[in-house]
Amino acid sequence: MFGLGPRKRPSRKGTGSFVDVPQDLLKEIEQLERHFTVDIAKLKQITNHFVEELEKGLSMEGGSIPMNPTWVMSFPTGYETGTYLALDMGGTNLRVCEITLTEQKSEFDIIQSKYRMPEELKTGEADELWEYIADCLSQFIETHHGDTSKLDKLPLGFTFSYPATQHYVDEGVLQRWTKGFDIAGVEGHNVVPMFEAALAQRGVPIKLTALINDTTGTLIASAYTDTKMKIGCIFGTGCNAAYMENCGSIPKLAHMNLPPDTPMAINCEWGAFDNEHKVLPRTPYDIIIDKDSPRPGQQAFEKMIAGLYLGEVFRLVLVDLHDNHETHIFAGQDISKLRKAYSLDSSFLSAIEEDPFENLSETFELFQNKLNISPSHPELELIRRTAELIGTRAARLSACGVAAISKKKGYETCHVGADGSVFNKYPHFKERGAQALREILDWPEKADPKDDDPIEILAAEDGSGVGAALIAALTLQRVKDGNMHGILHPENFK
Ligand code: BGC
Repeated sequence: MFGLGPRKRPSRKGTGSFVDVPQDLLKEIEQLERHFTVDIAKLKQITNHFVEELEKGLSMEGGSIPMNPTWVMSFPTGYETGTYLALDMGGTNLRVCEITLTEQKSEFDIIQSKYRMPEELKTGEADELWEYIADCLSQFIETHHGDTSKLDKLPLGFTFSYPATQHYVDEGVLQRWTKGFDIAGVEGHNVVPMFEAALAQRGVPIKLTALINDTTGTLIASAYTDTKMKIGCIFGTGCNAAYMENCGSIPKLAHMNLPPDTPMAINCEWGAFDNEHKVLPRTPYDIIIDKDSPRPGQQAFEKMIAGLYLGEVFRLVLVDLHDNHETHIFAGQDISKLRKAYSLDSSFLSAIEEDPFENLSETFELFQNKLNISPSHPELELIRRTAELIGTRAARLSACGVAAISKKKGYETCHVGADGSVFNKYPHFKERGAQALREILDWPEKADPKDDDPIEILAAEDGSGVGAALIAALTLQRVKDGNMHGILHPENFK
C-alpha cells in the first residue's frame, strides 16, 4: 500500500465508496492515480537527486537551486535581548511587529499590526510597492511611539521571502520574483536601497539591520526554543527551506577565507529544484501551470507543492475532464466559473478533503455556491479523490526536500520547524509528509504509535516576527564582537 496515496478516508463518516461510480469514470480516476501517485522508489530517486543538487548549489559552478548564504552565522543562545522591529512582506499580508527579547531565556513580547497587501501592487510599479510598505511602517511607529522626532532609529529585520543573493546580511539582490509577483525593475537589483529611499523620503526612523528569508527566520526562531531544530521550512503560498551549513562545505564562499567550521545559514530556495525536469513526475497539468505562469521554466518543484498552485492543478484536471475525455464530467452544465484561472485556492481543496459526510454533501454545496456546478454523486467521488491525490502528492514531494537536507547533513534524528498555510491548515499534510519521510529513510514501523519519529516536522515558532528580531540581534551582537563578515553598512550597527 505504500506510495499509493490514502485510500481510507480518515475524516469521513462511513467508508465512502466507488460502488456507484460508472466504469468510464473509474477509469478516469485510475488514470489520475497513475499521474499523481509518487511511489517509494520515485521518492527515493527524487531525494537522491535532490542531495546532489543541494551540493551543486553550494559549488563554485552553482546549480539550479540557489543555496544562498544568508550571513546568519550562529544559532541563538536563548539569551538574546533588546527591542527590534520586524517587517514581513508576504504574498497576502504585510505584517509589522515590535519584538522585545526579554531577560528570561527564550522569552519575548510582541505587538503587531497586519496590513492587507493590495493585489494590484503585486504586478504594479516598484515605487508604489516600496511607498506602500514605508507608509505601513510609518503608521505602525506613529501608533506605537507617538512623536518620532526624538526617537533613536530602530533596528529592523526585513523578511523578504523571494530568492535574493546576499553578499551581505544587509543587502539582497532579487534573483527573480516568485509566488505570482511580477513587478518590473526589481529583478537583478538590490532591494535594500529602494526600500531605504522610501523610508528616507518619509523620515521613518528605522535602520535596516538584516534582510531575511522567511525560512531562515523560521529556523532561527524555532532553534530559540528547541535546540533540536536543524531545518526551517515554509509550506505556504510558496515553499522553501533553510538549514545551517559549515563554511568549509560551501565552495562558492572559499574566497572569503572563513574558518571551515563557522556556521552559515543557507536559504536553499529549493522551489527551483529540478527546473531541468530530470526527476519530478510532472503531469500535463503541471506543464500547463508552468507555461501560463509569469516565469515559465522556474520553480518547478514549488509549482507542484505550494499553496498558490494546488487549487489550480485541481481546476485544470476538472476542466480537462469536462472538455477532452470520453466521460465529460459536468456534462450539459455551464462551467464558465471553473474556467477562470487561479479561481480556486488551496482552501477549496482543504474543504473538499475535510468534508465529513459519506455523500459528500459539503463538497456538493461548495461546487454549487462557488462554481454554479451540481456534480453527480460519482462526480463527487472523483472530485474527492482528485483533491486527495493532489494534496498527497504535495506532502510526499515536500518530504523529499527534508529528507535530502537530512541526508546531506547526516542528521539521523532532528526536529524540523515548519510554517505556512499548507502545513498549518491543509488536512493530513503533516501525516502524509511524515509517512513519506518514513518510506524514504527506511525507518522501521514504530513499536508504539505514540513514539516519536527520528526526524519530526513540527510547527515552528514565528519566523518573520521573532526570527527576524533574533537575526537582527545576532547580527548586532557579532558586529559588537568584531565579526564584520558580510556587513555592508557598519554604520547601521552602532
Ligand atoms: C520564495 C522563497 C520563500 C518561499 C516560502 C518562495 O516562493 O522564493 O524565498 O522562502 O516561497 O515563502
